Amino acid sequence: MAARKISLTGVKPSGTPHIGNYLGAIKPAIDLSDEFDAYYFLADYHALNTMRDAAAFKHAVYDLAATWLACGLDPQKVVFYRQSDVPEIFELTWIISTVTPKGLLNRAHAYKAAVDVNESAGNLPDDGVTMGLYNYPVLMAADILIADANFVPVGQDQRQHIEITRDIAVSFNAIFGETLVPPDALIRDEVATITGLDGRKMSKSYGNVLPLMADSKELRKAVMKIVTDSRAPEEPKDPDADNVYSIYKHFATPERLAEVRDLYLNGGLAYGKIKQELFETLDVRFADARARYNNLMADPTQIDAILADGAERMHITAQRVLTKVRAAIGKTTYAVGAR
Ligand code: TRP
Repeated sequence: MAARKISLTGVKPSGTPHIGNYLGAIKPAIDLSDEFDAYYFLADYHALNTMRDAAAFKHAVYDLAATWLACGLDPQKVVFYRQSDVPEIFELTWIISTVTPKGLLNRAHAYKAAVDVNESAGNLPDDGVTMGLYNYPVLMAADILIADANFVPVGQDQRQHIEITRDIAVSFNAIFGETLVPPDALIRDEVATITGLDGRKMSKSYGNVLPLMADSKELRKAVMKIVTDSRAPEEPKDPDADNVYSIYKHFATPERLAEVRDLYLNGGLAYGKIKQELFETLDVRFADARARYNNLMADPTQIDAILADGAERMHITAQRVLTKVRAAIGKTTYAVGAR
């Protein structure tokens, strides 16, 4: 049997994970782990760019790990680790930064966006730009290259980062010989955008999210806030223009969805009722996951143990790749015990 291809993806701890994260990233990634040798990690040092509160940082990392585990990520099947536990990544970051043209990073979207904001505000172009923000794509390239990953499942917004990773790998190989594996992005178009409570993309920054691991009361409150028009139950409605339908369609059974669609089109659907139905469906769907999540969060040493095991397995892969890179650049080293 041919060796399985390697897939790798990182998730940044930032806010409490929501239903959009679940449909757009968590579920597709867990599904992919059947097909590939999968590496999933918490990109905690990436998050340092924006998180400057130790307690909030710590909570966000556990929260994210517990959510993925609760949603069905199997740490026996995939290598699940914290980026900061794998020092090889940071050594590789330096090595590849020496072959990365500065101009490549000048063109990175996040950096360019920061410069644009400064320029329209009349500030100096690099005002408030840290080296962490600027070098973000190099660290991300090292995350990927350290595992010889072939495929990187990401959202559309990360496409440029994968292209930068390829460019860096190709430059390195041109100088030092075939060493690093240029990866391909695996973009999930079909689930690219999940609409939020107000019809815009569900996003923490818009404050329009349905929380994933919240208790029933909080979940119900959020569902009831979904914005609808003011049409009476008997009036026909366009399901594809409605925010409740656009979320419910991801969770209803095909049979029920067909019935609901019919009610929208032909009259007979009350928004209050369909919201209640959506709430109940989500509440049941995530009940077990929520229980697992609460259990992990109640004693995060369980999470630490799982991540420690993942880091140890990752270390083996990372050492293998880094050894190859060190040999390619001609780094010599002392033998242990030689002093
Ligand atoms: N930049 C990614 C995001 O914001 C997170 C990330 C960091 C990542 N390193 C990665 C994703 C490596 C894929 C592979 O979503």
